[in-house]
Amino acid sequence: MRIKVITSNAGKMREYAQALEGLGLEVFQDSVPYDEIQADALEDVVGHGLRDLMMNEDSFIIDDSGLFIDHLKGFPGVYSAYALKTLGNQGILELMRDVKERAARFECCIGCKLPGREPFIVSAACHGSILDAPQGDKGFGFDPIFSSDGVRSFSELEMEEKNTISHRGLAVRKLAERIGSEEGI
Ligand code: IMP
Repeated sequence: MRIKVITSNAGKMREYAQALEGLGLEVFQDSVPYDEIQADALEDVVGHGLRDLMMNEDSFIIDDSGLFIDHLKGFPGVYSAYALKTLGNQGILELMRDVKERAARFECCIGCKLPGREPFIVSAACHGSILDAPQGDKGFGFDPIFSSDGVRSFSELEMEEKNTISHRGLAVRKLAERIGSEEGI
């Protein structure tokens, strides 16, 4: 099965290709614009995006993700894209300077519509912490400042390893299970 991933984020796309192709699903990228509302939960943003895209598209997946930092009461969360653009990783580290409580999680929410099927949403989280300084040069977005084991950042992991533990890797495996159970893959 070939699935269109609607995203303009090349980093996400590479992770989808690696994670889904290993599960026998081929992906290709398209960057159709769709309505992204501001809401408190990623699921609401994705639900709205699904409904908007379904007016013209019959088969696709979309992904909305974010970094939720406990000490900042979940910020940047649903504002992650804007926070990365404006504050950047250095700005987030400034907000966390000298803060002892560094727990954070990445969340990934995937919306999926397949031909002739009801749309569905799957979500997953990866718990970890905010490092004191950026580490590594792989990955994208907040990867240099987030660590799931408190030692290595996501930017120090090969993509395959990130996919085995990340929010997106976990959500993609849920997605594949759900597609497989409906398609008999
Ligand atoms: P969105 O889902 O494209 O709105 O992503 C929100 C922001 O979080 C973007 O700036 C992404 O670069 C960032 N982001 C999403 N997923 C990841 C990830 O797996 N690692 C690091 N940053 C991410």
